[in-house]
Amino acid sequence: MSHAEDHEGTRRDFLYYATAGAGAVTAGAAIWPLVNQMNPSADVQALSSIRVDVSAVEPGTQISVKFLGKPVFIRRRTQEEIDEGRAVEVSDLPDGDARNANLGDVPALDQNRTLDEAGEWLVMMGVCTHLGCVPLGDGAGDFNGWFCPCHGSHYDTAGRIRRGPAPENLPVPEALFVDDTTIQLG
Ligand code: FES
Repeated sequence: MSHAEDHEGTRRDFLYYATAGAGAVTAGAAIWPLVNQMNPSADVQALSSIRVDVSAVEPGTQISVKFLGKPVFIRRRTQEEIDEGRAVEVSDLPDGDARNANLGDVPALDQNRTLDEAGEWLVMMGVCTHLGCVPLGDGAGDFNGWFCPCHGSHYDTAGRIRRGPAPENLPVPEALFVDDTTIQLG
């Protein structure tokens, strides 16, 4: 058997056993190399926490960093964006949960979405909660926040879903300020 045939055979076996769970036990040694490739590599695992210097982020701008293989938006909001977010009633939101990993189960008030009390810093995963596209930012969409053009989801200045098929607000990951200009993710 050639190397190519051997590889193809292994792949077929893997696909088969992936759908026939019990068989995977007996084929453990054969499928391990393929399964192992799907796990996070050591360097990704080592970055389960990162620190981001935000000293150069001006009000009204944002940066995007990669964390655990996904984009994270860090936006420094203007007072206008803060006021707009705070003027919204939770009862008007499609998703009333803040989706903030730092606060647990709390209502989606603007104040429960931001990292600081003044509401200047908004940190959230840049992954649309519909099917996972990366939304456009910088005041995009009908609610001056983010817009996902894939199927038309509009997020407001606090990253809360307001219109379109996305079911949930953009999630806020574990994050905190470790000093005046450094945000730690994870
Ligand atoms: Fe964003 Fe469908 S993935 S609207």
